Amino acid sequence: MNFEIEKTKTREIYNLLIGLVAPRPIALVTSMNEEGRLNAAPFSSYNYLCTDPPIIGMGVMDRPTGGFVPKDTARNIRRTGEFVVNVVTEDIATQMNICATDFPAEVDELEMAGLTTTPSQIVKVPRIAQAHAALECKEYTTMEIGRSRIILGRVVAIYIEDQFLDPSGPYVLSEELHALGRMNGLGSYVKTRDAFLTMPRISYEEWKKGKR
Ligand SMILES: Cc1cc2nc3c(=O)[nH]c(=O)nc-3n(C[C@H](O)[C@H](O)[C@H](O)COP(=O)(O)O)c2cc1C
Repeated sequence: MNFEIEKTKTREIYNLLIGLVAPRPIALVTSMNEEGRLNAAPFSSYNYLCTDPPIIGMGVMDRPTGGFVPKDTARNIRRTGEFVVNVVTEDIATQMNICATDFPAEVDELEMAGLTTTPSQIVKVPRIAQAHAALECKEYTTMEIGRSRIILGRVVAIYIEDQFLDPSGPYVLSEELHALGRMNGLGSYVKTRDAFLTMPRISYEEWKKGKR
């Protein structure tokens, strides 16, 4: 089938894009409002964008209720300028999904999910204690585009459990970490356990010698 965006409903565009730009890493974002109230929600329109400086980006759509009302995560980041990306792995998949539930404002998502927090190194927002890795971020900028906000965060500190790190690089031991990816809007995810293909890049010298 072919879809011309001008003639396609917003929900259909969403369904197609999130199924085709996949798998995507999942950021379980902790943020705080001005009163210090903690919030947690997952976002998969998320990636690192550059490393010098280290910038990550994520897309947060406004609430589906209409009226350009931002989700709590986007609102908190705009007001307090800080957040933490907790890396989502297989063992916290269920808890991550609970954090996406649209609970009333007074309900603590982390408590509902059985997750706890621990202090971050630099930012005031704590990281999730059960997450094996986390990126502490300060808001670089937020772009309002239509009914969405694209948030760029400057990474100011990184946490990773020692068991998932080869300090020689340092390299992340991705085959051990078991990060989870989001695939589509039907609740499909991809596990990375036993799913690795190792393919080092080919230098031009190697290419000339016939390496493929
Ligand atoms: C795996 C997963 C990925 C998600 N990714 C996004 C996303 O990239 N952008 C977005 O606006 N909502 C996304 N959502 C929905 C939000 O997590 C959901 O709207 C959440 O309730 C927002 O919470 P908040 O208002 O506390 O920020 C995702 C949900 C799940 C389960």
